[in-house]
Amino acid sequence: MRRRRHDRHAARSPQPLLPRRHGAPAHRRRRGRRRRSRDRPPGGLVVGTFQSLSLDPPLVSFSVARASGSWPRIRVGGGSTAGVLSADQHHICHALSRKQEDKFASVDWTASVNGCPRVTGALAWIDCEIRHELDGGDHLIVVASVSDLAAESGEPLVFHRGRFGGYREISAA
Ligand SMILES: Cc1cc2nc3c(=O)[nH]c(=O)nc-3n(C[C@H](O)[C@H](O)[C@H](O)COP(=O)(O)O)c2cc1C
Repeated sequence: MRRRRHDRHAARSPQPLLPRRHGAPAHRRRRGRRRRSRDRPPGGLVVGTFQSLSLDPPLVSFSVARASGSWPRIRVGGGSTAGVLSADQHHICHALSRKQEDKFASVDWTASVNGCPRVTGALAWIDCEIRHELDGGDHLIVVASVSDLAAESGEPLVFHRGRFGGYREISAA
């Protein structure tokens, strides 16, 4: 996987936001596995509001609905991993944006070294530490610092007017 500097173009499409799982062995495959009751499946959230906020220090921000049932499960560990979904991962976007107990039952993911899940096949992952939660009306504006990231080239998933599509580059006039 090719690493890139933190840049403004790394995160423009729907982002699955995944919590840290304390004690999860690194790179353990978790697809559809039945878990013990104390091994609760991670919460997850799709956000279209994920963006680069600052380059120095590297910060990102996103907004989360106050009504989100998943956010309390994500924030409890103090960290999360965001991913940029690829154009063929709309089924994962559906799975992670649905209200359900185990959003990852049909999703392939591996645990990063810090315990956060990374969606297999995503174009990028961004490990974050949650720093601030600010008032944003019926949403919280979350500011998080970037601890590590990696990205590779490919077609990102784009959500526009309630429909999924791809990204098309246009040549400057
Ligand atoms: C393309 C897309 C973008 C979304 N963007 C946001 C967002 O920025 N903030 C947010 O709180 N929810 C957003 N949602 C909704 C959540 O991903 C999810 O549906 C909702 O939080 C599920 O409820 P839960 O948090 O109780 O699990 C988005 C959903 C989709 C499909």
